[in-house]
Amino acid sequence: MPPATSVTERDEIYRVSCSWEHLMSHKPVMVQETLTYLLHDNSQSILDATVGCGGHTMAILKADPSVRVLGIDRDAQALRDAQRMLKAFATRIRLVETNFVDVGKVLSEWGRVDGILADLGVSSLQLDTSSRGFSYSKDGPLDMKMSPEGRTARMLLQETQHSDLAQILRQYGEVSGATRIARSIRRAVERNNMRTTRDLAIAIDSALPGVATPALLSKVFQAVRIAVNDELRNITEFLERVFTYVNQNARIVIISYHSLEDRLIKDFFRRESKDCLCPTAVPVCTCDHSARLEVLTRRVVKPSVEEITRNTRARSARLRAARVLG
Ligand SMILES: C[S@@+](CC[C@H](N)C(=O)[O-])C[C@H]1O[C@@H](n2cnc3c(N)ncnc32)[C@H](O)[C@@H]1O
Repeated sequence: MPPATSVTERDEIYRVSCSWEHLMSHKPVMVQETLTYLLHDNSQSILDATVGCGGHTMAILKADPSVRVLGIDRDAQALRDAQRMLKAFATRIRLVETNFVDVGKVLSEWGRVDGILADLGVSSLQLDTSSRGFSYSKDGPLDMKMSPEGRTARMLLQETQHSDLAQILRQYGEVSGATRIARSIRRAVERNNMRTTRDLAIAIDSALPGVATPALLSKVFQAVRIAVNDELRNITEFLERVFTYVNQNARIVIISYHSLEDRLIKDFFRRESKDCLCPTAVPVCTCDHSARLEVLTRRVVKPSVEEITRNTRARSARLRAARVLG
């Protein structure tokens, strides 16, 4: 099978930058809530683990003039956009292209931080760039990768058997009719008709009676994107290492857009805020676990109705925050 895009085509994809107007129209999600939970009296250094085009980082830098931000992203295009957006703050930021799973290497030089923000998922600028192939509403190559390494969505669909594909759609997209859609995608792959986002949308549409709704299309695209970028494993591995990155009293703020992501974060916060993890039937604690976090958000924080009206993409956002204990 030929690769979905040649290396040269792919390089082109990552060379695209957003227009200034597009960048300026970007609306970071739950900014005020993020600042409230992230910054404390002695915040000096913050890690923005998903800097995107710098919306949250800019708000952090404006809110506290003594703070420096290390902004990372696995997407080179996003970093170029962030650099343009944050030009005025050049002395207080460092931007690095890396997966947040590998941020330990960068932090060994930068030092521990007083706060970590992760605004997970895909950015609106990625979604709106047709050549990145993230959106069913923009025809483009079936890429969906956030960084150059790994398989494109087209490769994934070519290499995954229909039962595994159905499982991806069910698990990551909660797609009903997953088996039929997976079969339809596989048929298109076998006919060599699976090159573009439009091809994928057509395969979804022809799998079920009636016209595929935008909700169904976006669920399938989301599921494929999560699989292509290994998003849940990245979050799990990042959380496992998070305590080696932070100072005492640091804040951790995570915004997620998917119930499985939110579940990972909720379970991690719950587990790390307990002194004992032994089953209730065990009379004496043998686990030696002690709490390392205080959960600051008793309930998950959702965007206000006004924010959702201004920015419909905020509607699925869920924010959780915690404080690192001494
Ligand atoms: C929702 S956007 C962040 C938007 C940003 N907060 C802003 O205001 O501009 C998510 C960003 O996370 C990045 N991302 C997702 N997974 C990542 C990972 N494992 N490592 C680094 N960056 C990642 C994406 O490339 C994307 O730019």
